[in-house]
Amino acid sequence: MRPQNISLLCGLVTLLFFPVQLLIQAPDNVLSYRNIIESFENCIPKNNQVETKKEDTMVATTIQQQVDTADLEQKVKTMYRDVALEPEKEYHFEMGRPLAEKLGYNPDDLDHIPAASIESFAGVGYFFDLAGIKEGEKILDLGSGSGMDAFIAALKTGRPGYVTGIDMTDEQLEKANRLVEDFNLNNITFVKGKIEQLDFEDATFDVVISNGVINLCPDKAKVFNEIARVLKPETGRLALADIVSREQLPENIVCNSTLWASCIGGAAQEDNYKILIEKPGMQVINIKRNTKYEFISKSARGASDKYGVKSISLVAQRL
Ligand SMILES: C[S@@+](CC[C@H](N)C(=O)[O-])C[C@H]1O[C@@H](n2cnc3c(N)ncnc32)[C@H](O)[C@@H]1O
Repeated sequence: MRPQNISLLCGLVTLLFFPVQLLIQAPDNVLSYRNIIESFENCIPKNNQVETKKEDTMVATTIQQQVDTADLEQKVKTMYRDVALEPEKEYHFEMGRPLAEKLGYNPDDLDHIPAASIESFAGVGYFFDLAGIKEGEKILDLGSGSGMDAFIAALKTGRPGYVTGIDMTDEQLEKANRLVEDFNLNNITFVKGKIEQLDFEDATFDVVISNGVINLCPDKAKVFNEIARVLKPETGRLALADIVSREQLPENIVCNSTLWASCIGGAAQEDNYKILIEKPGMQVINIKRNTKYEFISKSARGASDKYGVKSISLVAQRL
């Protein structure tokens, strides 16, 4: 064969084998691309109803990476199991009827709900004055615990109103549901679930309430997106009490899952908290500080003094 024919043949062989070579390499490329996408997706709340701003995603991502979320969930469940089963024990936070009255709960309301739900009350503020619950409304209580707020909401909404409480700690749920049965109540139920992923249709509820819970959630953006999704547009309200901070907490506090479970470590900076509420289509219309809520432990008091960790109540309107 003539030399020019040999080089022509080599060229042809190279051309023919080039796509085969690409195909052989493709799985690796596809795999590494998929890894990048997956690791990126792991950082972003998947259930967003609205486009998440890059900075918000970064706030959520950093927090998720800083605290060991599995460890945190276990600590939260253990702590609130004890609160349900042994409310008389000493905790690092105040509890029960004395706390409820101090925060502003109406003694007459407390007299009309199961006393056992009040003894395990571990909320951080009062918000029913902001919620304006009307008869017949459908209410969802996020992190309902032993049920005190849900029982009060049921008093206000009556029948055909309805209250659903959701909590992830079995012992809290069992106690709350036992009380529903004992008191033969027919407008309230407690279900197991995590508030980051609500098993309800869009626009189901008139009012979402929550007391001392969202600070415990590493992915707050996901929680507020879900709240906005299940609230009725235009009339729906979010009324809550929670712990926030004046300043962004430093890493040594945020990384400490024990301080999270004590309602300190997960306190979001107050302006960021408001941004996270408003991003999915709610508007904060009233916010107040619960000056009567006090931290008991030395470390909690220290954090409270230094970083302005505090309890607030607020109401936000679904747009
Ligand atoms: C501080 S207690 C408040 C309970 C109740 N709201 C009250 O005022 O007594 C927090 C409750 O939220 C629940 N909780 C915390 N994180 C949760 C989550 N991601 N999903 C569902 N429940 C959660 C805990 O199990 C616990 O019962």
